Amino acid sequence: MNLFDVYPLNDITIVKAAGAYVWDDTDQKYLDLYGGHAVISIGHTHPHYVQRLTDQLHKVGFYSNSIKIPLQVELAEKLGKVSGKENYQLFLCNSGAEANENALKLASFYNGRKKIIAFKKAFHGRTSLAVAVTDNPNIVAPVNQTDNVIFCPFNDEAALETTFKSNDISAVIIEGIQGVGGINVASNNFLQKIRNLCDEYDAVYIADSVQCGYGRTGKFYSHDHSGVNADIYTMAKGMGNGFPVAGVSISPKIQPKHFMLGTTFGGNHLACAAALSVLEIIEKDALMNNAKEVGDYLITELKKLPKIKEVRGKGLMIGIELPEELKEVKKNLLFKHKIFTGEAKPNVIRLLPALNITKVEADIFLEALNVELKA
Ligand SMILES: Cc1ncc(COP(=O)(O)O)c(C=O)c1O
Repeated sequence: MNLFDVYPLNDITIVKAAGAYVWDDTDQKYLDLYGGHAVISIGHTHPHYVQRLTDQLHKVGFYSNSIKIPLQVELAEKLGKVSGKENYQLFLCNSGAEANENALKLASFYNGRKKIIAFKKAFHGRTSLAVAVTDNPNIVAPVNQTDNVIFCPFNDEAALETTFKSNDISAVIIEGIQGVGGINVASNNFLQKIRNLCDEYDAVYIADSVQCGYGRTGKFYSHDHSGVNADIYTMAKGMGNGFPVAGVSISPKIQPKHFMLGTTFGGNHLACAAALSVLEIIEKDALMNNAKEVGDYLITELKKLPKIKEVRGKGLMIGIELPEELKEVKKNLLFKHKIFTGEAKPNVIRLLPALNITKVEADIFLEALNVELKA
């Protein structure tokens, strides 16, 4: 049997990883500023993470949501505390798309409506409704197409207001910083406007925090920079440091009913142990502070480099837009300088490192990029 060939691959096989580094099968070491797409939040094979998962595996790895799982309660309490949303409720699932799918369903259950506002260049996942609110026709199958989604321009308050006035809106879904779309930061005014309009029309504000959340921007949710609360936060990537686990944090105004949502694997013992160990490290090692500090440093230093069109982002979610003639830089960083970075179309390098990256590691990248830009 062959693999279903949907991923363009780099010819690299990673066999070992520790902290901010990975090694291939020839023992070549790479600096990882990509974290497998913003997934590695506390560093590869963090000792506390490995220990907690190993211990849990020796006790019980999985049982379904038909019995009490105290680890889920522990996780909800910890997440409430670290995220500063202690009165919210947690639904656990397995991936970012699934978290968004459930968030959009919850909104519709809540107000009985169907219309959703999403934004140009948004990415919310590949399942039915998540892909329908994603602005990329290439990945929307005919069966996913729906008239229920309205795409508005990003950061355009007037267009948003007009759309609210002429439609019966159920929910607005927005990334605090668009990731796949190229690191575009939602302005604080825009997020405040969404809050106000959702209040006025009793619609649900869904903060997709799958990529920009979990401490990456220096606050737990990047939406927190705006000073307003969303009704629902979705999270995944950094939550389990590589273990598949996702969550939906739900404001008390939305009340649960039995069987309203559900999943077989969501919130299993191993997933909770992984997620708890991540939060423990974020808290103990003050990783949100580190994300802000090293992120600010990187952004300041990047802005001094030549030829870059624009540097965007917050904390450790950084986009470096390069001119067309420098489109080889990302490849050179990987194959010449042995540094993993992410990308976004048409020519943006995305930095999504672990939250405990050091200034020394940031400097290694800055030096390599400088060499490439001067070449
Ligand atoms: C903002 C955002 N939402 C949702 C998703 C989907 O997450 P998953 O791939 O875990 O389904 C992604 C993945 O890149 C994302 O960046």
